[in-house]
Amino acid sequence: MALTLSGPIHHLDPLSPNLHEDAARMRAHGPIVPVELPGGVVMWAVTGDEAGRNVLKDSDRFAKSPSYWKALQNGELPKDWPLLSLAAPAGNAITVVDGSEHRKLRRPLSQALTARRVEALTPVVAALVERLLDDLERAADKAEDDVVDFRSLFAWPLPMGVIGHLLGVDEADHDELGRLYTALFDDTLGDGRDAELSLHSWLDEHVSRLEREPGDDMISAMLALPPEDRLPREDLVVTMYVVLAAGHETTTHLLVNAVRALSTRPEQRDLLLSGEVPWENLVEETMRWDSPTANFFTRFATEDIDGADVHPAAEGVRIAEGDPVFISYISMGRDPERYGPTAGAFDVRRGETHTSFGYGTHFCIGSPLARLEGRIALERIFSRWPDLEVVGDVPRSPSIVVNSHTHLDVRLRPA
Ligand code: HEM
Repeated sequence: MALTLSGPIHHLDPLSPNLHEDAARMRAHGPIVPVELPGGVVMWAVTGDEAGRNVLKDSDRFAKSPSYWKALQNGELPKDWPLLSLAAPAGNAITVVDGSEHRKLRRPLSQALTARRVEALTPVVAALVERLLDDLERAADKAEDDVVDFRSLFAWPLPMGVIGHLLGVDEADHDELGRLYTALFDDTLGDGRDAELSLHSWLDEHVSRLEREPGDDMISAMLALPPEDRLPREDLVVTMYVVLAAGHETTTHLLVNAVRALSTRPEQRDLLLSGEVPWENLVEETMRWDSPTANFFTRFATEDIDGADVHPAAEGVRIAEGDPVFISYISMGRDPERYGPTAGAFDVRRGETHTSFGYGTHFCIGSPLARLEGRIALERIFSRWPDLEVVGDVPRSPSIVVNSHTHLDVRLRPA
């Protein structure tokens, strides 16, 4: 049977109680399936890991630029569609350009975030981790029932502090900046364009400050490049915007999801604490099993594509030129075709690679930084409080893009 975008087989709901179950349902229909998003917009969902990697490495046929998106160009999307600013961000961002334009924007950013530069941030990350853990402990001592929200007191401020340091943003401004861009991910707030504009003007003003008073940060370094290597100012502002949007909350979700998974698996925690299994495995297994990014949009077919050309099991899939395609990382991470019959089990001994940092030319530039933060933070948390337990409800973030929780109440030293 031929599958086209006119016959979606599943509806994704931001308020769904379990995105993994949704993902499994989509995957059961095949590695590429038509799915309806909130607002009635239909896209192809890539649910299989191999199909996902094939799409991501084929940047000629699956482009990033929304200029290929027929429904957008024809004005057929619903007015105020809440996911518009994520699916088709305005501006010349690294995440929505292809080919040489993409390489031009990616080069300076990847130079600023090389593995060596990121490794040099180890003392900054380690000091911030200790300070936030001390704060968390103090908050727990003050709390009536010893319960503290790990997300708001640790998992949110840690990556904010690290990215703030990278971008030269004063600590006093971290909260305001965080509030501005968190609005981007709120599927319930209009089409997100207002949030995009507010954040943009804040960052623009910040770059002006750094032009007047350069500091020891990534943006000042990019401003000081010789003119032929320097990004135009507008591109620099958009680049900061992308680093924040792509790098902060994703890392928050990684920390929340890892703490949640490990705190109920004492035998795996002991393997990590004894050194039998390296802490890196906890980061990688969380990324695979509970990917911080659930579903992410942003590929558009540049020509008609037969699904069987992408993956043999996608026979009958007819992707038309101009169709939008999103990658379901949450589904790919538990794909039994790649990870075998135990794909749905969390096991830090697995030590496997995954596709949750993307693949191909747009592979995550910040992965060394996210891995560094995750490794240092998780090792310190469980070394300090091996019996940490999650208490009460763990509400899901109301989103089809984000796979995480709005808070994570924990007891550091349960009685
Ligand atoms: C656990 C944390 C993170 C996760 C799960 C994550 C995930 C991803 C994924 C899946 C992509 C590929 C998107 C695509 O191909 O459409 C990506 C790209 C990107 N990430 Fe990350 N990321 C994380 C942390 C970071 C950090 C810390 C930074 C920066 C400090 C960052 C910056 C970027 C940038 C700039 C891109 C765009 C690259 C391009 O389009 O060429 N990410 N990320």
